[in-house]
Amino acid sequence: MKVGIIGSGGREHAICAALKKSSKINKIFCFPGNAGTTLMAENVDLDTNNFQKLSEFIIENKIDIVIVGPEKPLVNGITDFLNKKKIKVFGPNMKASQLEGSKIFTKKMCEKYNIPTAKFGIFKNNNEAQKFLENCKYPIVVKADGLAAGKGVYICNNKNESFSAIKEIFEGKFGNADSVLIEEFLKGEEMSFFIISDGKNYKVFGTAQDHKRVFEGDKGKNTGGMGAYSPSRLESEELNKKILTKIIDPTLKGLQEINTSFQGFLYAGLMIINDEPYLIEYNVRMGDPECQTILPKLKSDFATIIDACVNQKLDLVDIEWSNEKSLCIVLCSKGYPDDYRKNSEINNLNKIDLDKNDFIFHAGTKEKNSKIYSNGGRVLNFVVKSKEFQISRERAIDLINKINWENGFYRKDIGFKVIDE
Ligand code: AMP
Ligand code: GLY
Repeated sequence: MKVGIIGSGGREHAICAALKKSSKINKIFCFPGNAGTTLMAENVDLDTNNFQKLSEFIIENKIDIVIVGPEKPLVNGITDFLNKKKIKVFGPNMKASQLEGSKIFTKKMCEKYNIPTAKFGIFKNNNEAQKFLENCKYPIVVKADGLAAGKGVYICNNKNESFSAIKEIFEGKFGNADSVLIEEFLKGEEMSFFIISDGKNYKVFGTAQDHKRVFEGDKGKNTGGMGAYSPSRLESEELNKKILTKIIDPTLKGLQEINTSFQGFLYAGLMIINDEPYLIEYNVRMGDPECQTILPKLKSDFATIIDACVNQKLDLVDIEWSNEKSLCIVLCSKGYPDDYRKNSEINNLNKIDLDKNDFIFHAGTKEKNSKIYSNGGRVLNFVVKSKEFQISRERAIDLINKINWENGFYRKDIGFKVIDE
């Protein structure tokens, strides 16, 4: 089987590594990949927004299945486009991708099917929103409707902050905005919950917790994710059941009622309050860096699972997991998530001896003349699985220290809630 992977982050390197273990895989292409994926796949430097060019390459090279890592091409309809050319794609169609592409679409679905979520209002202009914000209780959450690369959410502690949030959104910071979402602030513990679905059947695909803030103690600006661990400490059979019956099942039913279905990874961002799950948001893909912690624990053959999914036969495969504790620390370029330097050489990377439970997944890296350079904000993911989160974290930090890359920084406290509290 030949597989193509769209994306260039740590998530896509982890997907590539999981596939590579399968005897079913003959070749992997990454569009465009990174310095890590070059070690196990062919990187193809094509514009992934150009679906036509992409489809030509896929057909020419007889690629059997395309796995889409990030949300943007999914929301823009890559699955529909490639399916029309008879190419099999792992990832939801454009209609189902609205679950991530439009927060208002998802909120309306929650309303219709009684899915537990924060109370909300949708406001069409500054005046309407301000009128509401004058008298509401703080903190309150203001959100831009569409994709905003994790930046369209404002937790506002007072009127001033909320006024400036709606102003930024209506002024077009995240693209043209005809409405803004304002929701109640939920106080609880977050959990990322994943399922994999073939459009007819689905299975749970693990839980995790990420750390979005840039500084230790979960302080500072939001990032794409500074680290993660899996499983979430909140996971239990009883909670899983509630999540499936109160959130996942009604969502999939809601999609059916608009004549579509969900095929791919669905990631529910949840807030757990007194053992009850509330939906904060959906993502129509794996999380990054959650994926890097989950896939190394998969015991079953990943290529078989993906193949079953694109052929609507997921009910015929068993998905087995190791019960180890997996933890990921992201090594970032100094300055991230604001301005940072690119093209800084990373030495020693190939001198690190990895044990079988250690993994380095590349994100923003590129290779030039056998040397590795930084090429993004999040640069490398250090993942370790072991019997205990603390052991995994210590080992990940040991590995990072071996690199000694002066332009990098990372959080030493990933998993503090499960380790230190
Ligand atoms: P999102 O981009 O929707 O994942 O939101 C980013 C982060 O904002 C989430 O991971 C939560 O930490 C926080 N957040 C979003 N909505 C709410 C809410 N209604 N109440 C509390 N925190 C929220
Ligand atoms: N780690 C958060 C995300 O992938 O959206």
